[in-house]
Amino acid sequence: MDRIRIRGGKPLEGEIRISGAKNAALPLMVACLLTDEPLKLLNIPHLADITQLASLLAQLGVEINMSGETGHEAEAGRVLTLTARQIASTTAPYEIVRKMRASFLVSGPLLARCGRAEVSLPGGCAIGDRPVDLHLKALEALGARVTLNDGYVIAEAPYGLKGARIDFPMASVGATENALMAASLAQGETLISNAACEPEIGDLGRCLIAMGARIEGLGTPTIRVSGQDKLRGATHRVLPDRIEAGTYALAPVIAGGRIKLMGAQMSTIASLAPILRALDVDLSEEEDGVTVSGNGDKRGEVDVTTEPYPGFPTDLQAQLMALLCTVQGTSQITETIFENRFMHVPELGRMGARISVNGQVATIEGVKSLTGAPVMATDLRASVSLVLAGLAAEGETIVHRIYHLDRGFERIEEKLGKCGADIVRLKD
Ligand code: UD1
Repeated sequence: MDRIRIRGGKPLEGEIRISGAKNAALPLMVACLLTDEPLKLLNIPHLADITQLASLLAQLGVEINMSGETGHEAEAGRVLTLTARQIASTTAPYEIVRKMRASFLVSGPLLARCGRAEVSLPGGCAIGDRPVDLHLKALEALGARVTLNDGYVIAEAPYGLKGARIDFPMASVGATENALMAASLAQGETLISNAACEPEIGDLGRCLIAMGARIEGLGTPTIRVSGQDKLRGATHRVLPDRIEAGTYALAPVIAGGRIKLMGAQMSTIASLAPILRALDVDLSEEEDGVTVSGNGDKRGEVDVTTEPYPGFPTDLQAQLMALLCTVQGTSQITETIFENRFMHVPELGRMGARISVNGQVATIEGVKSLTGAPVMATDLRASVSLVLAGLAAEGETIVHRIYHLDRGFERIEEKLGKCGADIVRLKD
């Protein structure tokens, strides 16, 4: 299995192009199931999760064409053209869904287009239980009959879905996306209340509108969808990845130096910017990107709680913790989204971090310096926090199990290496 080796202590200087958002690209790819015409997606990141979802869509009968973007530098995003002329299968098998929960999103579009979807339950994952009850509640509200059989959800609506009120008891990104796609092809009007407001949902909604859907209220907790008989093909550019941007914004703060996040705007790192400013980090925005300059001396006390958007994202929690390990003072992070998302804590501890966890709350006492160590990646965001910690640590850090990293961070060793980090991928 590949590993990443980092020799820490090198200040960073340079530019990093922020890729298209994984969490927008995945639902956007699924949206191709709603039409028999081609859906062309630009700025698709080159990630294992994208390849995985493409292989599921291919099994369902989608023709897929991948090419590079012309007229851009070599590292620009991909162009993916997805054509679901005919749906060959309405079954999403366990082998794929268990590896990537986002593949559960095919249930709504398959049901809306074909009247049936058979999708494996994703099961738990390392960061918690992660049920899909809210997805099922939405599909049932739209008139589907949902049964469970041998670990599979079977959703049926032989006469089509009907617009309805969907009241989510709590905001869920995936369930909102699933409901939005299904409602776009339902008969009549759907009102989704307590919808999640994450920017990636807005990106999906804008693409659906380009495909002919009628949607109001994107970015607010109340979304109104007027269902259409048919949707058409469209071309859509995926928005920049705010989690990748936030992660690389933290890199020069933790390691020292200055990085320009190309293609990002201040709004891309909106939840992180006030925390960085409070730590005296210099942020400046230009037309083509945001520059982050670390100030060397890190001092301060941060108290952050993860929350649905526009609150601080759970997907940046581990990375922020890596930084706080090296900030003089006592900081606190409360994780409210997933129950088991502190698995990076013992690994950071192996590098000399002083963190104690009490339930949902981690208390971090900044140390003067971290020391390199062999560490194990446990999930996607945890793995990148170990890379960040490695950049600051004295000596050598080897991050094992980096297949987690490859799911969500495109060519991380190249991007950081170009800015002066001593980071290499070791192949077995
Ligand atoms: C998405 C993101 C993920 C991010 C998460 C929270 C994608 C592909 N993934 O995941 O990176 O960490 O949002 O910002 O966009 N829940 C239920 N029942 C459900 C669905 C969710 O109880 O049917 C719970 C979850 O267990 C969790 C909370 O709701 O505690 C939020 O989950 P949700 O917003 O659905 O996350 P995902 O869409 O899975």
